[in-house]
Amino acid sequence: MINTCLFPVAGYGTRFLPATKAVPKEMLPVLDKPLVQYGVEEAVDAGFSQMGFVTGRGKRAIEDHFDRSPEVENQIEGTSKADLLAGVSKLIDTCSFSFTRQVEMGGLGDAILKGRPLVGNEPFAVVLPDDLCFCEEAGVLQQMVALHEHFGCSIVAIEEVPEDQIHNYGVISGEPIDAPGEDMAGRLFRVNGMVEKPQSDPPSNLAIIGRYILTPDIFGIIENTEPGANGELQITDALRTQAEQGSVVGYRFKGRRFDCGSVPGFVEATNYCFEQRFGKAYGPTTSVEGHTGA
Ligand code: G1P
Repeated sequence: MINTCLFPVAGYGTRFLPATKAVPKEMLPVLDKPLVQYGVEEAVDAGFSQMGFVTGRGKRAIEDHFDRSPEVENQIEGTSKADLLAGVSKLIDTCSFSFTRQVEMGGLGDAILKGRPLVGNEPFAVVLPDDLCFCEEAGVLQQMVALHEHFGCSIVAIEEVPEDQIHNYGVISGEPIDAPGEDMAGRLFRVNGMVEKPQSDPPSNLAIIGRYILTPDIFGIIENTEPGANGELQITDALRTQAEQGSVVGYRFKGRRFDCGSVPGFVEATNYCFEQRFGKAYGPTTSVEGHTGA
């Protein structure tokens, strides 16, 4: 049983400046909901109830988002807007939220290590909220929990990425493995190598995206890992050690992912969510309840 989902949210979000100068990138809204809330909802759908955040300076808004706001609640009580807070209020009522700080930027591996006191000595999930994922049935994390139960090892979500973008990601090499169930055919790989942001000769076109299930031995491995790409402690490098022991499965998940850390990905996600909610694409003459585009 996995209980804790870790959200490393200390990053500066420099690709989104100036918007992220004073507002955490995880608080940017897709339609009317901040990215981080989508991530927490995905974790809840996967059965998690303990949310652990590794934050940093300037990220207090995330903490406040997962707390009551009596003034606003009183203001909208009994009005048609009361429902707008129902989703986040339910999360507040049913989950625990813990926070710790990464005092200096040291990479994703370092951020995960800083989250150790929130996790303890058990397997845990990691969600990077700027990778926003939508699936028709079970969410990505829920799909991965089932795989962790089957294989008992670390699981990383992967996706095919075009050649000219692969240098932005952690990239795996691996051997296809038998899938539990026909609909999983071609989706699973026993990872045997990993490179963080390869500048040339990527080992494949399979990039790691921001969903991980990690076994707790990863903490000791991170402690013994040297800084890598950008001079930072990379989770990809620690995972490579697990991969060399045959303990990492890569999963080409079912669903669609948007890179909301970039402006084009963010706009695409916004358009996608608009269509999902209102059943039509947004245009200058689009009319939806309470609003006309023109
Ligand atoms: C991080 C990881 C990288 C992974 C990516 C997914 O990179 O280090 O391995 O592919 O997230 O979004 P970042 O986007 O923080 O540079």
